Amino acid sequence: MHTIASCAELRQIIQSKKNAELSVAFVPTMGNLHEGHLTLVDAAKQHADYVVASIFVNPMQFGENEDLDAYPRTLSDDSTALRRHGCDLLFAPGAREVYPNGITEETRIEVPSLGRNHCGSSRPGHFVGVATVVAKLFNMVQPDVAIFGQKDFQQLAVIRKMVRDLCMPIEIIGIPTSREPSGLARSSRNGYLSEDEKRTASTLFQVLSRSKQQLEKGDSDFAHIRSEARQVLEAAGFKCDYFNIAHPLTLDSATAKDKELVILAAAWLGRTRLIDNITVSR
Ligand code: PAJ
Repeated sequence: MHTIASCAELRQIIQSKKNAELSVAFVPTMGNLHEGHLTLVDAAKQHADYVVASIFVNPMQFGENEDLDAYPRTLSDDSTALRRHGCDLLFAPGAREVYPNGITEETRIEVPSLGRNHCGSSRPGHFVGVATVVAKLFNMVQPDVAIFGQKDFQQLAVIRKMVRDLCMPIEIIGIPTSREPSGLARSSRNGYLSEDEKRTASTLFQVLSRSKQQLEKGDSDFAHIRSEARQVLEAAGFKCDYFNIAHPLTLDSATAKDKELVILAAAWLGRTRLIDNITVSR
């Protein structure tokens, strides 16, 4: 596996693969890779001849008081793991390579409808930062296929819409959430949790699963399901940010008539913000 930081070099390598008629799959990440990320790489290998992963902690998607500086950077372990999973190329650019003129005056991409609620309202500007960097990375890598995790359900929806709206010739594939045996969704941010917090953290998935069961049984009293879920989370020690029942395509609040639903949740445990979701068919 090659590791490169330069966009010019990336373009040369990709061009040579395209000349050889190899298809290219792309897995964008912010590094500190865990098994969840690596399932994306495994899937990428099944969808294309040549697999590119990127590691870039994107300043544009972090709010002012968020964890940009604290975000774990573990390039050497990450590159070992990627190599082990058969990744062909690691693109790990610095901030100057991606934003040569800084981020303030940078062209931005906004996906208004899908980026507004849930994490969009809790983290203003977050999805503009995500959409902008993913569009830039897509233009650098020019993949045929790009792989994202359903763990970040709203992010996946935003990317799918951006690709459709901007006519990008890229197939987007979503991969189910990889979880710890306790049910906790794997996340780079789990590393911030103390042992005690980690034990509590699995309650988030338990509460999502319980709400899913209630919905599957035909309960459509969404307000009641939500408030009960929030109570259980708060009693366990979380500070609930949101617990929303939405339509999986529009991400608008669900109605009793909807057959397909997604429950999206974000909650703080100490200083760590966890997100998770679960889909429901009824
Ligand atoms: P990051 O949080 O590093 O995640 C990279 C990819 O891994 C995303 O598609 C995410 O949904 C997926 N992922 C994370 N945890 C997962 C899990 N437990 N199971 C399955 N997939 C999982 O998401 C980002 O980085 C950034 O916003 C990025 C898209 C790279 C843009 O900067």
